Amino acid sequence: MPLVSMRQLLDEAAKGGYGVGAFNVNDMEQIQAIMGAATETKSPVIIQASRGARQFAQDRYLFHLILAASELHPEIPIAMHQDHGNSFETCKSAIALGYTSVMMDGSLKEDGKTPSTFEENVEVTRRVVEYAHPLGVTVEGEIGVLGGVEDGHGAGGSGLDHITDPDQAVEFAERTGVDALAIAIGTSHGAYKFNKKPDGSVLKMDVLIEIHKRLPHTHLVMHGSSSVPKDLQDIVNEYGGKLKETWGVPVEEIQLGIRNGVRKINVDTDNRLAITGAIRKVLWTQPEKFDPRDYMKPAREAMQKVVSQRMTQFGQAGHSADYAPLPITEIAKGYASGALDTRPSLAAK
Ligand code: G3H
Ligand code: 13P
Ligand code: ZN
Repeated sequence: MPLVSMRQLLDEAAKGGYGVGAFNVNDMEQIQAIMGAATETKSPVIIQASRGARQFAQDRYLFHLILAASELHPEIPIAMHQDHGNSFETCKSAIALGYTSVMMDGSLKEDGKTPSTFEENVEVTRRVVEYAHPLGVTVEGEIGVLGGVEDGHGAGGSGLDHITDPDQAVEFAERTGVDALAIAIGTSHGAYKFNKKPDGSVLKMDVLIEIHKRLPHTHLVMHGSSSVPKDLQDIVNEYGGKLKETWGVPVEEIQLGIRNGVRKINVDTDNRLAITGAIRKVLWTQPEKFDPRDYMKPAREAMQKVVSQRMTQFGQAGHSADYAPLPITEIAKGYASGALDTRPSLAAK
């Protein structure tokens, strides 16, 4: 099966009332872990690569690994997504490679650190939409700024510094025509999101619910959605790691989000923890081992377990064969005719 449009995947998720995990990849084992989980749970998948991942793996390697996944698993719809594109050029280069979806994260300037103005964000995101939609490629935008810094990406600070303003979210959707919108509700990238189990004072689910009421046709995206489970933290620390005590986003809060318009849920950190814990365990308990397969195989298995759990919890399990994937050229026609227009003033008609 060729790679499919993320818009189609999210539209189907909206019809079915479920969410779809978007899992970050940097290498073959992570892609295999996701495909193993998708096969096990019969789930459609979103695979995403950050700029750092594209640099680490090199574009051609990474893209051909994804093609291998779609060749080996023709029964699974796969959307390939650029995570946190920092500029028009980054998004354009992903589209040139064959990605079926891009995120233009115009909430930050091109340096990936400095918060941009609302007008700058609208301008660059609209430009990406105007370029991507005629090619049938999905666009995710971001309004509000997440907390934390992960490998140089992020404004730093707390997740509460730049919570999305619902009025701005509506204006942004109207002026850009994005298919999906990432909003800031108090989460941060990475392991250190909250210093205790989050409640409504730090995780603003009420803001998310309000935005969904006002923008029912725009798919909402939750970034920084790792749950950072204690059992995964404990494995890392038991075998020599030094993680400080921390809390992530409870799965039941994500499920509340899914009941209120969240269709894409970004998860990276949980998989990083699972992989690191498994590798540490082998190297710590069997120091005589030096064949990478001895630790990469348990690492891949540990990630697959986490991804399978999330696919089940998000509700995408069992939905891989619900629909026939449309060629990207058909999606382009849908944009051209206005049938796929999400702008609040038009979508309701
Ligand atoms: O956006 C955050 C993702 O976890 C990707 O992180 O930029 O370190 O690859 P990265
Ligand atoms: P986590 O760090 O919570 O896994 O978030 C990942 C993410 O939002 C990628 O864009
Ligand atoms: Zn993110």
